[in-house]
Amino acid sequence: MTEKTFYIETFGCQMNAHDSEKVVGTLAHSGYTQVDTPEAAGLVVYNTCSIRDKAEQKVFHRLDQFKRGAKKGKILAVIGCVAQQEGERIFDKAPHVSLVAGSASYNRLPEMLVQLEAGNRRVTGLDLDTSETFDTPFTRRDKPYRAYITIIEGCDKSCAYCVVPFTRGPERSRTSESVMREATGLVDAGYSEVQLLGQNVNSYRDPSPAGWDFATLLDRVGRIPGMRRVRFTTSHPRDFVKEIVEAIDGNPALCNHVHLPVQSGSSRVLQSMQRLYTRDEYMRRIEWMKKARRNISITTDIIVGFPGETEADFQATLDLLGEVEYDSLFSFKYSPRPNTAALGMEDQVPEEEKTRRMTILLEKQRAIQIRKNSELIGTVEEALVEGRNEALGQWIGRTSQNRPLNFTHADSDGASMMGKYLPVLVTRDGPNSLAGESMMSVV
Ligand code: 5AD
Ligand code: SF4
Repeated sequence: MTEKTFYIETFGCQMNAHDSEKVVGTLAHSGYTQVDTPEAAGLVVYNTCSIRDKAEQKVFHRLDQFKRGAKKGKILAVIGCVAQQEGERIFDKAPHVSLVAGSASYNRLPEMLVQLEAGNRRVTGLDLDTSETFDTPFTRRDKPYRAYITIIEGCDKSCAYCVVPFTRGPERSRTSESVMREATGLVDAGYSEVQLLGQNVNSYRDPSPAGWDFATLLDRVGRIPGMRRVRFTTSHPRDFVKEIVEAIDGNPALCNHVHLPVQSGSSRVLQSMQRLYTRDEYMRRIEWMKKARRNISITTDIIVGFPGETEADFQATLDLLGEVEYDSLFSFKYSPRPNTAALGMEDQVPEEEKTRRMTILLEKQRAIQIRKNSELIGTVEEALVEGRNEALGQWIGRTSQNRPLNFTHADSDGASMMGKYLPVLVTRDGPNSLAGESMMSVV
């Protein structure tokens, strides 16, 4: 029998990255060996994203490339969000594809592989109506120190611009017991940082009788002996409660960083986006964090050019940036998506105008970051060592606030530095990162 090999390429968010880790583990358990190029693989898997049109186009571009390069006998699988969104239409657009499966069907992956191996060239996993999460003991994690843990899958909100409810199905929380078991196992395996994942972690609700809410789960994960850092993403402001800030304040293992996507600073636009909060309600949550004992860094996502966004609405977003003073942000030009409520809305903003607004927004944010980062010079931050930049002679580190902090360290011997936590004196700043010197050689 010839060896079973696979190649996987992942697009999109951390949920997708972690799904791929589970898919890789599942494939390995089913006897497949991972290879580095699609050419060397018998099975080529694309784990896809459809959040914006550009992401989706990238996938279809890959499928086109594959068609030209495809040799007889290779099996092509499209999984993830484009697979769920397009469903069997993928077979029409790309007849050389043999498997189309969304994330709500990954539990059936071993069974789908058996069908592929039996020669079936139209295998699908597209049922969204599930109460199950994809729990597998076979996860192959990419990073040695930081591990992802899914706590909730799917999304029950219906933001007017967003495909996720259509691609990932309804919300399903894992039991607290299974999350705690996974987190404890990770610490035992040498991990010291975990990131709790979900489209909306704040609406986590333990389905077991223990009935933990998100703040309780977060706190308990942070109290596992040996756990140094716990992060979480992503938060929906509507479900972000004060107890989360209190948990961070009372538990140093919880990172002092919250990503709280606002999308717009205009209550009128927020209403039309169906975000379920006003600007004032959002700002109340920011106040909780600003009043906390710990210095919590706050980051966000912004969409510019949502249908009907006027110059005044955009100014309200700029004004919000000044008021919150985010530590960092991601901004996106609104991209019309299939099935969503915003698709048919009037007053679509022209592309050039979206570009103009985005440029202004990024300039304003850059000035805020330069100022905020410069205030950190002379302070000492704890950095987790994640890598080495030989060209600069620096170690690559990250602070609890999630800032990149690269630093020099006297007498360091390579391998033993990785995964260590070190106090670093911040000596240089930039808009996106800090640089410094390890205090270990000084102390
Ligand atoms: N167009 C542009 N940006 C979008 N996002 C989600 N859907 C769209 C869309 N249709 C952004 C939101 C979200 C982030 C992950 O992607 O800001 O928080
Ligand atoms: Fe992309 Fe959203 Fe799917 Fe993540 S959940 S892969 S961001 S469409």
